Amino acid sequence: GAIFRPLPSAVPPSPNSNSTKISVIGAGNVGMAIAQTILTQDLVDELALVDAMPDKLRGEMLDLQHAAAFLPRTRITASTDYSITAGSDLCVVTAGARQIAGESRLDLVQRNLALFREIVPPLAEHSPQCIILVVSNPVDVLTYIAWKLSGFPSNRVIGSGTNLDSSRFRFLLAEHLEVNAQDVQAYMVGEHGDSSVALWSSISVAGVPLLGSLEKQQIAYEQEVLERIRRAVVESAYEVIRLKGYTSWAIGYSVANLARSLLRDQRRIHPVSILVRDLLTGVPSDRDIFLSLPALLGRSGVVGVTSLHLTDDEAACLSRSAQTLWEIQQMLGL
Ligand code: NAI
Ligand code: 2OP
Repeated sequence: GAIFRPLPSAVPPSPNSNSTKISVIGAGNVGMAIAQTILTQDLVDELALVDAMPDKLRGEMLDLQHAAAFLPRTRITASTDYSITAGSDLCVVTAGARQIAGESRLDLVQRNLALFREIVPPLAEHSPQCIILVVSNPVDVLTYIAWKLSGFPSNRVIGSGTNLDSSRFRFLLAEHLEVNAQDVQAYMVGEHGDSSVALWSSISVAGVPLLGSLEKQQIAYEQEVLERIRRAVVESAYEVIRLKGYTSWAIGYSVANLARSLLRDQRRIHPVSILVRDLLTGVPSDRDIFLSLPALLGRSGVVGVTSLHLTDDEAACLSRSAQTLWEIQQMLGL
């Protein structure tokens, strides 16, 4: 029975007009952290979950739906069938094997390549206009694979990349400087993984370049501290995995942050994994490599890439990172 009387002037919106939809593939630790952050931040009208394990998937869907009284209204659906993802604006891929203690991200590549062959083509078929955001590891190589398997233009295939590493970097710098991490500008670029590169020259606090001010004060000691911070960033995930088995909350916020910039056309700059063809000196232009650079994100995906002013040292580290990824891609024979 009707519990309210519709007003004659209230025209129901046509389905899909301006409504936004995100699909999250993989309802594991990472997928669910992303799902719950997206819900609490009121980013979409519909959230679809896909996983290969039907009971776990339905359990996760129900558990989220049961929070309806505390959340903005969002339609939450789930299925093992990819037709549930149809009409997505953004598809976030988190499915796949994760590292056990001692494994590197690159060790996962063969296992997750096989999964991506099952996942990416149906996603592209059901949402041919969507943006694909890859999170599964090794994220840079899998973003390249998703680009190949989807046939999408490269501006619509993005890896979460070093958006997370940069947040870790900013957190540790902020702790050291005793300021809010949101006031620290600092980028990690390159591979999301062991060869990630700290852009020292990018660090600034309230617009004041950190390194310049240190050099003037000739504080060599501080430079050692900064190097320790960089090493701690690279170690971060290993430490969390050793302690709790996986990482989830920070990547949840990192991806919700990217989803907002993309779907709400924020034109914010994020270090994310993009196709770097012709963008890096030292990387031959016939090599299709995805790695993180500060990129401008909007409703159509990657809208632009920031021009980097790298020191020789930074440029050398970045081309080593590119070389590492290229060698892995060569082994895959795609
Ligand atoms: P998990 O094991 O908790 O979840 C993986 C999920 O994928 C499981 O629910 C599994 O059933 C599902 N799955 C497996 N095969 C599938 C298929 N063919 N189709 C659909 N779903 C399938 O793992 P967790 O902790 O969620 O990690 C997921 C991935 O995210 C890993 O590769 C991990 O390394 C990566 N990761 C990436 C981060 C980044 O910054 N890029 C941060 C943290 C994790
Ligand atoms: C992370 O950095 C393991 O890639 C994952 O948290």
